[in-house]
Formats: sequence, structure tokens, C-alpha cells
Amino acid sequence: MPKLQEALDRFDALFKRAAARGLNEPAAVTVATVDAAGRPSARVVLLKGYDASGFVFYTNTLSRKGRELAGNPRAAMCFFWDPLMEQVRVEGEVRAVTEAEADDYWNGRHPGSRIGAWASEQSEPLESREALEARVAAFAERFGEGPIPRPPRWSGYRVVPNRIEFWRSLPNRLHERTCYRIENGGWRVSLLNP
Ligand SMILES: Cc1cc2nc3c(=O)[nH]c(=O)nc-3n(C[C@H](O)[C@H](O)[C@H](O)COP(=O)(O)O)c2cc1C
Repeated sequence: MPKLQEALDRFDALFKRAAARGLNEPAAVTVATVDAAGRPSARVVLLKGYDASGFVFYTNTLSRKGRELAGNPRAAMCFFWDPLMEQVRVEGEVRAVTEAEADDYWNGRHPGSRIGAWASEQSEPLESREALEARVAAFAERFGEGPIPRPPRWSGYRVVPNRIEFWRSLPNRLHERTCYRIENGGWRVSLLNP
């Protein structure tokens, strides 16, 4: 089996095991980006899809992460599922999802979340909670009972992996680490010291 597919199958099995454990947010993943000065920042988002093309999340493209990705389209993702004591690290280049993909996901979101996305200028300073609530009310009135289109600034990113590492807790801190990575144009797999 090609190594990338092997890694994805392993991720898929873990993700399903985590979901089966009744975790509140098995899709929660920390995503790190870097700014123009090389300073990293990290935050949690929800993974909304994964396959051989990459790992997808949705956000505001004018947010801090969006601005950092515009300047440096690379990210690292880190999953940790506590009940499994398993960690997965994904690193790669980041590409915008297609407009059609973003529309598809947007259209499945709850209307309240769609209004919220219009109202929130994510990561910009907020004068007060009331100011946000007023914007929510204004957008709710603007769209009324009609369709709520996707704001141009709201879309998704796909982290196209060049490295995927699995970490599994084992006794005496002799954890198992398996690293899949692209080297000389092909996927390689190796163990790492814990
Ligand atoms: C469990 C959880 C899930 C989240 N999911 C998302 C998400 O899918 N997209 C998003 O933009 N922010 C999400 N957030 C909020 C982000 O952590 C963050 O506050 C926001 O995106 C702004 O980040 P930035 O200023 O670094 O761009 C989530 C937070 C938590 C704790």
C-alpha cells in the first residue's frame, strides 16, 4: 500500500476510535501558523474533512491565522485524543479550498452560525459585546428569512501533508513514534526515538 494511504488509514482508524469514545470534540485540532517575522501562533479549529488531498478546516480568511497563511502558506496541526493517549502531527503546505467546497460546507451550517460569521470580524478588536450583538441583529434583519450567502472572507484551508507523525503512549515513556514524510519526491516511513 502506498505510504501516504497507509498514514491516512491509520489516521482514519484513530479518528473513528476517538469519536467512538464519546469525546465532545474529537475533531478539535491545534493549528500553528507563522507570521512574516517567523513568530508562531496556534489555536484550535475543527477538522472538517480529510483524505489524500489533505486536512481541511474552515475559518475567516482575514483572521490572524488567515493573514499569516496568506503570507506563509504552511501550517502544522496537532491532534491529541486524551482517552486514547494518541497524538498525530500533520505538517504541510496550505491551499485554499475551492469555492464550491466552501459553499457546500457553508450551506450545511446552522443559520445562527452563518449570521455569526457575517457579524464577526474574527481576530479584530471588539469594542464591546453589545457592538457584536448589534451587528448580529443587523445581519439577521438584512437576510431575514431569505438565503444567507457565504461572506467572501469566510472559507476553508487544506493542509496538504508532507509529514504525518503518529505518537502512541507506551510504558516508561518509551512511546512509539512513526513518521511518514516526503523525501526525494516519495513518501518514506521510519520510527523515531520517543
Ligand atoms: C474546540 C474549538 C473549535 C474551534 N473551531 C474553530 C474553527 O473551526 N474555525 C475557526 O475559525 N475558529 C475555531 N475556533 C476558535 C479558534 O480557536 C480561534 O479563537 C479563532 O479562529 C481566531 O484565531 P486567530 O486569531 O488565530 O485567527 C475553535 C475553538 C475551539 C476551542
